[in-house]
This record gives sequence, C-alpha cells and structure tokens, in this order.
Amino acid sequence: MFRSLQAITFLALLAFAAANPTRFPPVEVASDECGFEDDTPPDPFETTTASIKAASSYATPVTTASVQAAPSAGSSRASSLTTSGFATLPASSASLAVKAVQATSSATTFVTTISQAASDHCGDTDYVVLTDTPWIVYNMLYNADQMVGTQCTNYQTAGTLASGVQEVVWNSVTNIEYVESTNNVPKGYSFVGLTENLENTISSISAIPASYTWTRTNTTAFKGNVCFDFMTSDTKGDSTSTSAQELMLWLQYEGGQLPIGWGDAVATIDSLFGTSWKLYEAKNTGTGITVHSLLPDTQFDGSFDGDLKDWMDALVTIGTFTDSTYVNVGNAGTEFFYGDSILNATLGLQINLS
Ligand SMILES: *[C@@H]1O[C@H](CO)[C@@H](O)[C@H](O)[C@H]1NC(C)=O
Ligand SMILES: *[C@@H]1O[C@H](CO)[C@@H](O)[C@H](O)[C@H]1NC(C)=O
Repeated sequence: MFRSLQAITFLALLAFAAANPTRFPPVEVASDECGFEDDTPPDPFETTTASIKAASSYATPVTTASVQAAPSAGSSRASSLTTSGFATLPASSASLAVKAVQATSSATTFVTTISQAASDHCGDTDYVVLTDTPWIVYNMLYNADQMVGTQCTNYQTAGTLASGVQEVVWNSVTNIEYVESTNNVPKGYSFVGLTENLENTISSISAIPASYTWTRTNTTAFKGNVCFDFMTSDTKGDSTSTSAQELMLWLQYEGGQLPIGWGDAVATIDSLFGTSWKLYEAKNTGTGITVHSLLPDTQFDGSFDGDLKDWMDALVTIGTFTDSTYVNVGNAGTEFFYGDSILNATLGLQINLS
C-alpha cells in the first residue's frame, strides 16, 4: 500500500519536475577559470511549494562544476569487465519466476528477475520508476539547451541475488559533440536514484550497501565521471534550500573533469573504501548549495563495493555535519560533458535502517 502510494506520488511529482526545468539550473563557476561569461545565469529556484521540495528527493540537482581541462587530471578510463552474473535475458522473457542463471560466482548469481520490461529514456527529464525495487532510472539533461547530440539512460533488467540483495542493470549512451564554448558545461546526469528509506537521519541508518560495476567504451574523447551523489540537510526532506548539502563521491573521471571548489583540498580522508580521498568544497553559486566532493587518490577502475554509511560517518568525523542530519537524496550515476561513449553498469544500492 505504502509503496504504491509512494510510486503514484513520485509520478505526479516527476511530471511536475519535468515541467519545471529551471529546477536544475546550470552550474556557474568563476568566469576566469573557464570562460562561462556567455552562459545564461540560472533562474532562481522556486522553493515555495511542497511539490518542488518533494520532487527533489529523487530528481537530484547534480551541481558538479568543472574548470578548464587540466591535461594531467583524470586520464584513467575504465577497462575492467563487469563481473556480475546477471542474465542478459530480453525483457520480454523476464518474469517473476526464478531463473537459474549460469554465473562464475554464486555470490553474484542473478536468481530472480523483476517483471518490468526494459525501456530506453532519451528525453530531457525522462525516467522509469522500477516497481518492486527501491529505484528510479533517470535521464536528466539539465543543460540540454547547451547540448548538441543525444543522451539516453536505458533500463535493462533488475533482479535479486542469492544473498537477497537487489541489483539493476542499466546503461548510459552518450553521443554529444565537443563544442569549444560548452566543453566545461556538464550536460546532465544519468543515474539510478533511491526511492526508499530516504529522509532518515544518519544515526538511524545502519548501512548503505553499494556495489557498482561498470565498463565504459568510448569511441571519441569523453569527458565525464562515474559517481555517487547524495543530498543531506538538517531538515527532513530538504534538498533545495541553501542549508542542504550535496555530497559527491567520484569513483572515476576523465577528460579533465574537476570538482567544484577545485584547488586546495579542505581535508584528506584516509582509509575509506581502500584508498585516500581529497575533499573539495564550494558553494554552487547557481543553487546556493554547498557541494562536498571526495576524489580518490586512486581511481576505481570499473568496480566499487562498500558501505556508503562509512562515507557519511567520515564526514561526521571531520565536522561537515552531525549524525542527526537527514539523508534526503541518494543515487549512483555518470555525468557527461561530451563524447561518444557507452557506460554499461550494474548497481546495488539501498538504505538499511537500524
Ligand atoms: C576515451 O576518452 C578518453 C578521455 O577523454 C581518451 O583519452 C581516449 O582517447 C578515448 N578513447 C577513444 C578511443 O577515443
Ligand atoms: C553493453 O551492453 C550492450 C547491451 O547489453 C551490449 O551489447 C554491449 O556489448 C555491452 N558493452 C560492453 C562493453 O560490455
């Protein structure tokens, strides 16, 4: 009951979000850094209705900014193969019936498919809510007006591993021309967003288990990243006011993409998910929201496994917020600036409450 009501609410609010593209204004960065002076400044946020606030709990404003590509920054690219044992059954054959699938590792054997048909999403705010999962798959082109080309986010299948953990198989297909004047403008965000167990305090969350595997195949130079993006606030449900905080965990980035606040790291976090991280912080002047981006000393090469609660706890430890702050938005995805690229990905992501 709750779930179906929730799904209906999501749909209504998504339609609202779709009709309000200014919800996702372009990022502004200092013009001396990347020559954005010709860009139209973002319209002010409309934050007066509950609908807008609620919509934002899955329609995440990703606010990454970039400065001019530094040739040495972020040149690694994914090369390892996805090792998930998901079946590549055509969607039409998917059903709730258990399907035995050959897999190299029993831990990743995909035992049950979700009955929802595969679907492609290529519009500027095009999405599918995956019923019987905690996810929405979203193609969000918040700077579509500055994009030449196409971008799709495609849901392929979803299922449950023998361990009981759910996973979704999806991909992001980018065909965006390099245009000199907009090469530093992120065109959008392709992601799988959480729809369940949001709006709880960090202290009431026991774990945020995440497994994200991907392959990127690009046939031209590609600029973009693979990341997690969460929003927190001391106010339940808030992801749009200037008291909200955006948290990014970059796993891989290439083509010279750099985080908002690039320059001096405000902190170093050691021994998190097997590497050290540098924290960059700055306000997104378009939204007034402070973005806290963690960049790994060693990039992840197609595979991440970890409890994202450890990320939240690390930020509590360094004083970004306390553990009574609310986790209002959470998702995993890829940002893109230009290039011809296919990201194939498998994601497990959920919030477990204490
Ligand atoms: C893929 O993108 C990276 C980063 O832009 C680039 O170094 C590499 O040459 C690209 N691969 C191809 C085949 O163009
Ligand atoms: C990506 O997924 C598509 C569709 O399932 C498949 O045809 C393609 O081979 C995959 N590419 C890689 C690099 O795994």
